Amino acid sequence: MLNERLTQALNDQFNNELQASHAYTAMAAYFSKRNYHGFANFFLVQSREEHQHAMRFYDYLVTMDEKPALQGLEAPKNDYSSALEVMESSLEQEKSVTANIYDLVSLADELQEHATLSFLDWFIEEQMEEEKMFRDIITRLKGIEEGREYFLKMDDEFAERKLEE
Ligand SMILES: [Fe+2]
Ligand SMILES: [Fe+2]
Repeated sequence: MLNERLTQALNDQFNNELQASHAYTAMAAYFSKRNYHGFANFFLVQSREEHQHAMRFYDYLVTMDEKPALQGLEAPKNDYSSALEVMESSLEQEKSVTANIYDLVSLADELQEHATLSFLDWFIEEQMEEEKMFRDIITRLKGIEEGREYFLKMDDEFAERKLEE
């Protein structure tokens, strides 16, 4: 069993990761409709990654003899004006997840919950990588025009992304 406040916060993050997965699926749909199937693939993989993150919280709660509790998902943003706007929203979403993870770390630290601190380490690293990935994509996208040759090359590149198990 874990401290009640900590259990609640871990469970909230379990649900936040599911919400992130939901939002990325909506972004994939935006690209699918525009026939940018590589960008769509990129976001479908991203969505599945977030689902994996959620399940890490699920498994951790179970390991600590707690019960994961599903909350309702909010409708994500379904419409965007450009690929750049999607990437900028993604970066904002990742930054807010990073802030959530930091709050969790602070709470676990305050409670001296060492197992939880160790569990959360992986997420600190992951958030650094995800923010960097979106920052780099934004930099590339800012220099090119949608639908032109280099944009289509990015679409081909994103078509290759696969889920890492
Ligand atoms: Fe995540
Ligand atoms: Fe993420």
